[in-house]
Amino acid sequence: MKHRVLLTGGAGYIGSHTYVALVDAGYDVVILDNFSNAAEDVPKRLKDLTGQDTTVVKADVLDRAALDRVFKGHKIDAVIHFAAYKSVAESVRKPLAYMQNNVVGLINLMQAMDDAEVRRLVFSSSATVYGAHAELPIREDAALSYANPYGHSKLICEQIIEETIASDPRWSVGVLRYFNPVGAHPSGLIGEDPAGVPDNLMPYVAKVAAGELPVLSVFGDDYPTPDGTGVRDYIHVFDLAQGHVQSLNALERDGTGHIVNLGTGRGYSVLELIATYARASNRDIPYKIAPRREGDAASSYADPSLAKAVLGFEAQYDLFDMCRTSWVWMQTSTQTAD
Ligand code: UFG
Repeated sequence: MKHRVLLTGGAGYIGSHTYVALVDAGYDVVILDNFSNAAEDVPKRLKDLTGQDTTVVKADVLDRAALDRVFKGHKIDAVIHFAAYKSVAESVRKPLAYMQNNVVGLINLMQAMDDAEVRRLVFSSSATVYGAHAELPIREDAALSYANPYGHSKLICEQIIEETIASDPRWSVGVLRYFNPVGAHPSGLIGEDPAGVPDNLMPYVAKVAAGELPVLSVFGDDYPTPDGTGVRDYIHVFDLAQGHVQSLNALERDGTGHIVNLGTGRGYSVLELIATYARASNRDIPYKIAPRREGDAASSYADPSLAKAVLGFEAQYDLFDMCRTSWVWMQTSTQTAD
């Protein structure tokens, strides 16, 4: 019988790509999303992509009664928890909202899971838990810290998970620490919602390439990196989605949890990303050098060897693929919005 997975935040950027990967891998999937940061037509797009009807519950992870109804109404075997706020800048302005949504949301979900006797969970964490000064490449046993309320919320969530597992060995949890997810499904049907002015580099570059924003500010060119600009481990969202399937498979197979990095192990600078995007889109990308952004690390890239050993995970796509699919999505999503 097919295993059924609940995806909280399953209509969002990483959730929707993981949905496709899970359906392709033969899972039955139920999406729970409040659509606060996802377009209402994502379920229809997922149906077009997979050829299968989507099961969607419009609800909030803070709504405990709604969670209970989902577990009663569908025989759920495991949960992947994406639903969370994710903007560093916004978290500084709204720390309470971040703690409530990210931390209370997780507690609510784990209590509902416990009551429903579903104790298999994959959790979206972030390389932000390593803070800005980790030794490179970053291994999972590096010291943990945080520099803003968003990072703090993810760290607290990891600790809650650790303590819960220690209290009850029936839990098996995969904690996935994402590096910098970018790119989109090659169909152009799903991607990162381009509404508003983005904080993150790749969606900003996409808008500059499309002429929607005039110029990119490169935050600092005096870092101790080969060209002076910040280096990050960009990972294709399609690879990241596969990592979730592999995490779930490992939980089912081994019955024990894991904490792993999901990255490629290779860092690219801001200038390298701009040059690659210009090539992939065949557009000019005007940029200017601006001051460093507060709290930014000079360099951040994963040691991906544990994910390979434990999950069999290995990223397949390179930076050009990430830029190309981002550009396809930029063009199709702009057309749809017109
Ligand atoms: N950058 C620019 N100009 C911009 C935006 C970003 O030069 O307009 C630079 C940054 O200084 C950095 C690089 O591009 O060197 C990447 O910045 P992003 O904002 O895209 O990504 P971050 O690495 O800062 O942040 C990401 C996630 C966070 C997560 C963090 C650490 O967005 O959620 O990684 O894991 F917390």
